[in-house]
Amino acid sequence: MIQKIKGTYDVYGSLSLKHLYIKSLFQNVCENFNYSYIETPLIERSELFHRGVGETSDIVTKETYDFVDRGGRNNTIRPEGTAGIARAVIENKMYTTLPLKLFYMGSMFRYERPQKGRYRELRQLGIELYGSSDEMADAETINLATTFLKELGLKDVVVKINSIGGVETRKKYREDLIKYFSKNIDNYCEDCKERLNKNPLRILDCKIDADKEEVKNAPSILDYLNAEEKESFEKIKKYLDDLDIKYEVDNRLVRGLDYYTNLVYEFTTPYKDIGSIGGGGRYDNLLSSLDGPEVPAVGFAFGFDRIVDVLNELELEIPKTDEIDVYVLNIDQKEYAFNLVNTLRENGYRVDMNITSKNMKAQFKEADRYKAKYLIIIGEEEVKEEIYTVRDNLTKEEIKVSKDDLIDYLDINL
Ligand code: HAM
Repeated sequence: MIQKIKGTYDVYGSLSLKHLYIKSLFQNVCENFNYSYIETPLIERSELFHRGVGETSDIVTKETYDFVDRGGRNNTIRPEGTAGIARAVIENKMYTTLPLKLFYMGSMFRYERPQKGRYRELRQLGIELYGSSDEMADAETINLATTFLKELGLKDVVVKINSIGGVETRKKYREDLIKYFSKNIDNYCEDCKERLNKNPLRILDCKIDADKEEVKNAPSILDYLNAEEKESFEKIKKYLDDLDIKYEVDNRLVRGLDYYTNLVYEFTTPYKDIGSIGGGGRYDNLLSSLDGPEVPAVGFAFGFDRIVDVLNELELEIPKTDEIDVYVLNIDQKEYAFNLVNTLRENGYRVDMNITSKNMKAQFKEADRYKAKYLIIIGEEEVKEEIYTVRDNLTKEEIKVSKDDLIDYLDINL
C-alpha cells in the first residue's frame, strides 16, 4: 500500500468542514477589510526565495523542496507566500495602483522534522498590504488578524510585537551581538555556532539556547533604534491601544525570514508544542531587492494547520455542519423522486436520495447518516395526488404538503 508522505495529511470528514469554515471566515474578514484574493504558482524559480526570503534564513538553507526541471532550471516549491506575491506584484506592475491589499490561502512546503504542529505541507492564510509606510497600515494588519481570531473563538492568543529597526540599526546591533556571543559560543548548539556570523539575531530565539541567562541578558534591539524608528514603534503601539488590541512587547522576537524591517509580530497560544500560529511584519525593502520599485509593505501569515490544531485542543465547535435539509425516499418511484430532488436543489436546498438501492430500510439508514432534517416519502399515491408527507426527522411529526406549497413550507421551516 502506498502511504502519504511524512508531514502531510488528508483532509476529509469533519476535518474538511473545519477547513472550509476557517477559509470562508478568513475570506469574509479579509473582504470586510477590503483585501482582494490573489493566487500565485506553487513553484517558482529558486532564485526568488534565495534573494527574497534570504540566504541566511533556516527556510532557504535547510527547508526548501528544490528540483531541477527537465529544462535544467532550478525551481523551488514555495516555502511561504510573500516572495511569490512580491514577484507577481513586480511582474504584473500591480504597484502602479497603490495601496494594494491582497489576501491568499494555500499550501507551502518546508522540509522540517514533522511533529505536532509542524508539517511538511503547511497551509497558510495571509495578507500583504503594499504602498503605505504609515503606522496605521501596520496596525491594520494586526487588527485584521485579531478580528479573525476573535470570530473563530480563539481567545487566549497573545500578540507579540517588536521592532528590529532598519538596515543601519540592525548592522550595529548585529556587530554588538557577535561580540557579545563570541565569548562563550562554544557552549551553544551547532546551529547557533553557525548563526553567530551569519545571522546572530537568530540566536535570541533559538529553541535550544534561548533559555540561557546569557541570551536573556543579551543587548536589546529596542535600545538600538534611532529616534525615527522609536517613534514609529510608539505610534503602532498607540494605534493598537486605540483599537483595544492587547499585545506584549518582546524584544527577543526576531522572526526567521530576512526581509523584515522595523515592525515584526507573532501570534502565540498557551499550547507550547503547537508553536506560533502566525507571524508577520513590515518588509519595505523586499520589492526593491527583487529589482522592483521601492514600495513599503507589511503583512502576515497564519499557520492554518496550527489553528486547526488549537481548535481541536480547545474542542471548539464550528458553526458548519454537513446535515442535509431534505432526504427523499421512494417506493418504486425513483424517477419522480429524482426530479423532485432536482427541483429542491434548484431552490437552494441541500438534498439527496438513494440512487443505489430500492430497499426502504437502506433509504432510512442513509437519511440518518446524512442527518436529514426532513424526509419526504414518495409512493404511488403521492405521485398521483401530488401531495407529499413531509416528516420532521427530529420530532417525527408528519404533515401533508401539496407539491405547489412545498417550497414555501421549506422556506418557512428551514
Ligand atoms: P512564517 O513565520 O515563516 O512567516 O510562517 C507563518 C506561520 O506559518 C507560522 O507562524 C506558523 O504558524 C506557520 N508555519 C510555519 N512553518 C510551519 C510548519 N512546518 N508546519 C505548520 N505550520 C507552519 C511567513 O511565512 C511569512 N511569509 C509571513 C509574512 C507574510 N510576512 C509578511 N507577510
